[in-house]
Amino acid sequence: ERLGALLRAMPKAELHIHVEGSLEPELIFALAERNGVALPYPSVEALRAAYAFSNLQSFLDIYYAGASVLRTEQDFFDMAWAYLQRAAADGVVRAEIFFDPQTHTARGVPMGVVIEGLHRACVQAQSQLGVSAALILCFLRHLSEEDALQTLEAALPWRDRFIGVGLDSSELGHPPEKFARVFARAAELGLHRVAHAGEEGPPAYIWGALDALHVERIDHGVQAAQDAALLARLARDRVPLTVCPLSNVRLRVFPDLAQHNLRALLDAGLCVTIHSDDPAYFGGYLLDNYRLTFDALGLDAGHARLLAANSIDASFAAPTDKARWR
Ligand code: ADE
Ligand code: ZN
Repeated sequence: ERLGALLRAMPKAELHIHVEGSLEPELIFALAERNGVALPYPSVEALRAAYAFSNLQSFLDIYYAGASVLRTEQDFFDMAWAYLQRAAADGVVRAEIFFDPQTHTARGVPMGVVIEGLHRACVQAQSQLGVSAALILCFLRHLSEEDALQTLEAALPWRDRFIGVGLDSSELGHPPEKFARVFARAAELGLHRVAHAGEEGPPAYIWGALDALHVERIDHGVQAAQDAALLARLARDRVPLTVCPLSNVRLRVFPDLAQHNLRALLDAGLCVTIHSDDPAYFGGYLLDNYRLTFDALGLDAGHARLLAANSIDASFAAPTDKARWR
C-alpha cells in the first residue's frame, strides 16, 4: 500500500551492513564448490535450518564459518555485488559497507584480495546502479588491540579504498577502551570512526565508544535506553544510532518487534536510523527491516521521512550528495 511504496521510494542510506552477513546460503554453497571448500552442512536447506540463534555469539560462530568459503578477489566482488543489487532495489542510494579483514587474513587470504574485490563492486555500483558505496574496515573485538593495529597498518597500501574503521564481533567482555590506541591511529589517518556498542553490552560500553574511541556513530546502541544521562548526551550531540530491528529480534535482544525500543529512542530525540546488519542471516534486507518495524510499532509516513532523512544525514557522504538525496 501507500506507506510500503513510500518506504521503498525514499532515498535511504544503509550504514550498518556487514558484507559477510549478506552472504546467502546459495552463494556459500556456490563458492564452496568453486573453491573446493568442504562445508559441514549437506545442503542449502540444512545450512539455513541452522540459522536459529540464542544470542550474538551463537550467530557469530556460524557467520565466521560461512565466511570461510571466500578465497579469491572474485568471491569478494560477487558477494558485495549481490548485496548492492538488492540494496538498489530497496531504494538505497548510499551504502557504507562493513568488512572484517581479520576473518580472512587469518585464513591466509591477502588483504589486497579482500579490499580490491569489495572495492570493484563499489565502483560498479556507482556506474551501473547509481548507488554510492564505500567501505568501513572493522576490527574484531574478540582479538587483541595489537592484532587490530597490525591489521590497520596492513591495510594502509589501500588507504584510499576505505573511508573509516569500525568495531564488531563479541561485545561482552571486550569494552571499547581496549581499542583506544588503534582508534586514535585511525583518527590521525583521517578515517571516520564508528563502533558497535550497547547491542548486548551495557550503557557503559556506549559511553566508552564516545569518550575513549571518539566515534561519530554508535552501531546498535539500543541499551542506551537504560541510562537517561546517556540518552541526553546522544541527543545533545546528535550521535546517530544505527539500529537493526530484525537482527535484534533474531539475536534475542528483544523478544519481538512489537517490543523493540526504536520508537522510544526516536521519541527521546535521538538520531535513529534503520539498517539490516546481516540480512542473509536475519530474515530481511533494508526494506524488510523498515516495513516489518513500521507494521509492528505502528509508525507512519512522518516517521518514514524522518528515518530516511536521518540515514542520509548520518552518512559520511559528501554534502553535495546529501543535499541531492534529501
Ligand atoms: N558482526 C556481524 N554482525 C554483528 C553484530 N550484530 N554484532 C557484532 N558483530 C557483528
Ligand atoms: Zn552489526
